[in-house]
Amino acid sequence: MSLSSTLIADGPRDRFTYDHLAVTPLTPTIGAEIDGIDLSQPITPAQAADIQRALHDWRVVFFRDQRIDNDQLKAFGRAFGPLTPAHPIAEGLEDHPEIWERSVEEYRTRRERAESAPPGRQPPRDYKGWHIDITFVANPNRYSILYGVQIPPYGGDTLFANLVEAYRGLSPAIQRLVDGLQAVHRTSSYDLNGGKVRRDGRSTGPFVAIHPLVRVHPETGEKLLFLNPGTVSHIVGLKEPESQALLDLLFYEVTRPEYQVRFHWRQHSLVVWDNQSVAHAGPIDYAQFDLPRAVRRITVAGDLTEGPDGFRSRAIEGELFNVLG
Ligand SMILES: [Fe+2]
Repeated sequence: MSLSSTLIADGPRDRFTYDHLAVTPLTPTIGAEIDGIDLSQPITPAQAADIQRALHDWRVVFFRDQRIDNDQLKAFGRAFGPLTPAHPIAEGLEDHPEIWERSVEEYRTRRERAESAPPGRQPPRDYKGWHIDITFVANPNRYSILYGVQIPPYGGDTLFANLVEAYRGLSPAIQRLVDGLQAVHRTSSYDLNGGKVRRDGRSTGPFVAIHPLVRVHPETGEKLLFLNPGTVSHIVGLKEPESQALLDLLFYEVTRPEYQVRFHWRQHSLVVWDNQSVAHAGPIDYAQFDLPRAVRRITVAGDLTEGPDGFRSRAIEGELFNVLG
């Protein structure tokens, strides 16, 4: 991989330095810790630029022991661009419409509801919770920022996978095949909330969007597998068994352990991932523990996705993800 930082020898693990910060990689392919920054204070444009460089190199970065309130969380996110509302379907906090608070109980409730839905309204397939955030709209968010407010001593880890590595690992023949394909991403019964209108008056779906299967990263120009196992219903132009077989193959590639990092949360951990090049799954084991867990998420607004052939994503049903600023 090509990195924009300088490797220096510093103790048992490699550290990488940028102009204004250093990172400690957690795996060779994805994930790095950043320390030495207090996110309760406004970060400078130079620090924000370095965090973006670290995201380009490591895809997801982890901060520990950050005691921040909701306003500080939003101020940090805005250093990277305007924020979206909390979610196209779910409501944000009453006083902070950009912030989505999620308790682990919601995962359990939603899963039970989805599993009791009549046949035909089930999620299309079970890919163990792996997904990219909000790809059922044509303009998924650019970055996702998640803050741990109530974290159990064990349980609730999050997995992240590098979609650039997943594409690079394909043989050239499969790369050529997927380069020109598009996939349909849609909300499922798991997502829908019964047609309620959002507090701000916007529709809560259903949403359907068509995206290139291979995305050109808008900042680095790298190609990546833009595969969201959680929302892709099918690949355009293929017969159903072909589409299913190719999705299964690509899902296997995206979730290879060597492209993953597993993050163990602590209270006040904060995670930023590049939602343009990362799939994630979590909390992966919510059915195996019953301790309370709550996190807060904000999302930095993104653009229409674009494929190697210039195909740009478009909405089939529902509006674009709006921006609050
Ligand atoms: Fe997510």
